[in-house]
Amino acid sequence: LLNQDTYLVDGELKKWEGQTTAVFSTISSTEEYGPTILGSIPFMGETEALEAVNAASVAYNNGQGLWPTMKVSDRIKCMANFVTQMKATRSEVVKFLMWEIGKSLPDSEKEFDRTVEYIYDTIEDYKLLDRNSSRFTKSQGVNAMVRRGPLGVVLCLGPYNYPLNETFALLIPALIMGNTVIFKPAKHGVLLISPLLEAFRSSFPKGAINIVYGRGREVASPIMKSGKVDILALIGNSKSAIALQDQHPNKNRLRLILGLEAKNPAIILPDADLDLAIQECIAGTLSFNGQRCTALKILYVHETIADEFNRRFAAKVDALVFGNPWDKAVMLTPLPEKEKPTYIQELIDDAVKKGATIINEKGGEHSPNYIFPAVLFPINKEMRVYHEEQFGPVIPIMTFKDIQEPLNDMAESNYGQQVSLFGSDIKTIAPLIDTLVNLVCRVNLNSSCQRGPDVYPFTGRKDSAVGTLSIHDALRSFSIRTFVASKDN
Ligand code: G3H
Repeated sequence: LLNQDTYLVDGELKKWEGQTTAVFSTISSTEEYGPTILGSIPFMGETEALEAVNAASVAYNNGQGLWPTMKVSDRIKCMANFVTQMKATRSEVVKFLMWEIGKSLPDSEKEFDRTVEYIYDTIEDYKLLDRNSSRFTKSQGVNAMVRRGPLGVVLCLGPYNYPLNETFALLIPALIMGNTVIFKPAKHGVLLISPLLEAFRSSFPKGAINIVYGRGREVASPIMKSGKVDILALIGNSKSAIALQDQHPNKNRLRLILGLEAKNPAIILPDADLDLAIQECIAGTLSFNGQRCTALKILYVHETIADEFNRRFAAKVDALVFGNPWDKAVMLTPLPEKEKPTYIQELIDDAVKKGATIINEKGGEHSPNYIFPAVLFPINKEMRVYHEEQFGPVIPIMTFKDIQEPLNDMAESNYGQQVSLFGSDIKTIAPLIDTLVNLVCRVNLNSSCQRGPDVYPFTGRKDSAVGTLSIHDALRSFSIRTFVASKDN
């Protein structure tokens, strides 16, 4: 049991004496099913929210604070100190990743290690950025010393599916560029931040990083309403992003870095290697139970191969093992949001009512904290599962005759993150790529969609994203190019 009774504001771990909120796991700790209480977090309100944003704002001090004016080499030392201390928390953080969000042991370890690596790579890229941008240049008689500077106060809100890695993909670049940060951990995946609090406190100057707890309404809203936030950095849903953005009194001054919904399709052409396509579509649709913005959320299979693809794909789904995150060879694990099985069931019922069939035997089987992936076929545009980002274990399949059909659907979609294209004839694939890259931001050839490796740009068109992440891009997104100029006399 971990009762988090401190929070980090203004360089101090302050004692929390007020009301608390229990943190539950949907995983049962006994044979009898029943959610497990993992601990508690402070239930904060406006007072603490304002305390945090004021601390970040004073620490930034319009760019004159200790952190934003600190030498690059010293900021790097602070970050290196942080990551050294962070490494010692691996087993505890991994344990909470499994219990809080139900991520499998190998994936939890991967999330932790990927984050450590991300921080080291960010430090290296920051050195490079500083070396390359801090240069004298000369044009038309004007000499310039260009450099990159911070933008101000950042409110950082990450998602529950990567409460460490994706959150840190916002927080770490924001911080290293000299911005000051307020971070509120996600609802699920909050206690795993506790082992890191002391590392944050002791590595950075006071007010550079502030960590608060509570619900968006009580904490994030007053922070936005204060007007002291310069960047809203959020990975989650557009509804929250829009609501928060609207609360800022001066929206023109607010920068946005947002990773939002996606409905990434896979298109399986008639000459695709079916073994490979099925294997990649299983991973693409069901890694972490489909709770990834990059998950494949709809499959378009050419009508000539649909029977075979569906039969073999459905059998593979039924062969997947459900269990607790620490069990061996487990792919399907408990869902952290207790409402999720009901929502997935609603999507299934709606699709079945409108003409789809569940084509795998185990599809839709319930256990108290899970619903077994249902493969639905054929899907039409009247169905909710065609439009909604399911973010969970249900797989809609459509057929197509002409490639223009999925392309038209992608063009009409509100989303535009990635696509997977399966096929083997380069003469068919090559011209398609030119169209696909204008509909989404990443085209995966004969492989499922994914965010990493973190050196590649991660973004989306339309309602899927604002701004670009990746180590390289995030450093630029959280900073501005400035320069000192002098004229030849
Ligand atoms: O939820 C969205 C994440 O960006 C997915 O990341 O592709 O590395 O699992 P991933």
